[in-house]
Amino acid sequence: MKNIVILISGRGSNMEAIVRAAIPSAHIAAVISNRPTAGGLSFAAEHDIACEVVDHTAYGSREAFDAALAAAIDAHEPDLVVLAGFMRVLSDGFVEHYAGRLMNIHPSLLPSFPGLHTHRRALEAGVRIHGATVHFVTATLDCGPIVIQAAVPVTSGDDEASLAAKVLREEHRIYPQAVRWFAEGRLRVEDGRVKLAGADVPAVLGCVPAIDAD
Ligand code: GAR
Repeated sequence: MKNIVILISGRGSNMEAIVRAAIPSAHIAAVISNRPTAGGLSFAAEHDIACEVVDHTAYGSREAFDAALAAAIDAHEPDLVVLAGFMRVLSDGFVEHYAGRLMNIHPSLLPSFPGLHTHRRALEAGVRIHGATVHFVTATLDCGPIVIQAAVPVTSGDDEASLAAKVLREEHRIYPQAVRWFAEGRLRVEDGRVKLAGADVPAVLGCVPAIDAD
């Protein structure tokens, strides 16, 4: 059984998808938010998951916040720390401490559109395919070995909200899958690439566009 700690900042729908997946080899040890008002905290509490808040506004520096956050996380002896809409940039020391056991989901097909406002930027760029990526976290923001991606078509009727909704549906599919693979001990990183054991498919499987033509 692998201990999983999930970090959120807001709604927590990805955390919810992972909890609802009820992965047999994963124990959700805690949900930690940097915002006391994060909507996802109530879902976690209702599901009898330990909930904590490490409020970043109470700390004078990124390093002080990251140290307090790491202490809260490590109390749960995590095998994996899952960033699920956790909207804080983490210090290099924090990332190094969790090397190989820190995962993130980002709402774009990385390496396209790292950073914020990914759906707006995808529409502005005129891409025809957009999506989401689960990756191991490295020191560079929204970078790191890719575990799984999912793609959705961008259609002429799409606006930021419709595109975000399409991508979010895929996020809820691929993040539990990535956590499941990790919990089953099937992921390893070799030369910056993720290898998935026990299947003759590439670790970046998951490019399954929903058919949504004009
Ligand atoms: C998700 O779309 C996630 O991909 C994104 O924030 C949203 C959180 O939603 N994360 C990032 O942009 C990180 N760079 P949720 O709180 O409902 O899971």
